[in-house]
Amino acid sequence: MSRVLVVGCGCTGALIAALLRRNKKLINITMWDKSKGAGGRMSTSRSPQDNSCTADLGCQYITQHSSYLNKHSSYYEELKNASILVPLNTEIEYAKNNENDTNYVTPAGVSSIVKYYIKESQCCSSYQMQLDSIVKKEGSWMVKAIDGSEGVFDSVVLTIPVPQLFLLQGDMPSILSASSQVKSNLEEVDYSSRYALGLFFDKGVKLDEPWSGKYVNDHPIFRFIAIDNKKRGQVE
Ligand SMILES: Cc1cc2nc3c(=O)[nH]c(=O)nc-3n(C[C@H](O)[C@H](O)[C@H](O)COP(=O)(O)OP(=O)(O)OC[C@H]3O[C@@H](n4cnc5c(N)ncnc54)[C@H](O)[C@@H]3O)c2cc1C
Ligand SMILES: *[C@@H]1O[C@H](CO)[C@@H](O)[C@H](O)[C@H]1NC(C)=O
Ligand SMILES: *[C@@H]1O[C@H](CO)[C@@H](O)[C@H](O)[C@H]1NC(C)=O
Ligand SMILES: *[C@@H]1O[C@H](CO)[C@@H](O)[C@H](O)[C@H]1NC(C)=O
Repeated sequence: MSRVLVVGCGCTGALIAALLRRNKKLINITMWDKSKGAGGRMSTSRSPQDNSCTADLGCQYITQHSSYLNKHSSYYEELKNASILVPLNTEIEYAKNNENDTNYVTPAGVSSIVKYYIKESQCCSSYQMQLDSIVKKEGSWMVKAIDGSEGVFDSVVLTIPVPQLFLLQGDMPSILSASSQVKSNLEEVDYSSRYALGLFFDKGVKLDEPWSGKYVNDHPIFRFIAIDNKKRGQVE
């Protein structure tokens, strides 16, 4: 049975794992993520007081662009069938959407998309496992995590952000250098940091805004604000 390691339990890793499972039944899929749970930049945080109260700290809503409608329709249909996605029915102020684009929100928080695909993949996922090095040996890949854990796989799929890719040890630097085109393309990838703050309010607090989310265009720090239960169409 071929052994595949998918590194990164974000949306990309989870979807790749689910698609691998659907295409190859006899495959042993392992997933590693350095964080404590699944989601990556599609993370959802729970209130320490009430764990039914959640806030999305990364991705806020999903836009189905009309240009991808045909190519991606089965993905949207599947997530709608599973009640992971529902239409966004409230006002996001200053959102720049083209006509024919459709926006969706996630009633259970945006990490539910990632968790759905991880479940579909029937993989074995390990958290707080940060890949440190990857070495090719006799047709297999020997991988090592920061904490010293090791594994041997036939294939390794890396879905980690580019800056983290450049930190990997072992054969990774020479693999990257082997194709100067790939390396220079990756070096050109630009990231800008985002910080997210989630505030949990007591039951009964009224936030009387006409919007459920809003882009902020005139502030040096804040870029976007959302009232998450309202964004997801939940009154309470
Ligand atoms: C604040 C914010 C708002 C956003 N809003 C939207 C939006 O409204 N709509 C939209 O469509 N998109 C939005 N995005 C973008 C969207 O969230 C990302 O494009 C998407 O989640 C990226 O998924 P990914 O799996 O490619 O990467 P990630 O989610 O970053 O997953 C990579 C994973 O790899 C793990 N990792 C990294 N290094 C290692 C290592 N060495 N070993 C093991 N694991 C490692 C990380 O912990 C992470 O879980 C937003 C992003 C942010 C940050
Ligand atoms: C799948 O791989 C994991 C990690 O290498 C291993 O612990 C597990 O026993 C394997 N499962 C099967 C069914 O081979
Ligand atoms: C969604 O559900 C409908 C009705 O049950 C079904 O016909 C369709 O195949 C499903 N689509 C996907 C992608 O799962
Ligand atoms: C939106 O859809 C309509 C009907 O299919 C089409 O005529 C129009 O060109 C589309 N608009 C855009 C921006 O794609």
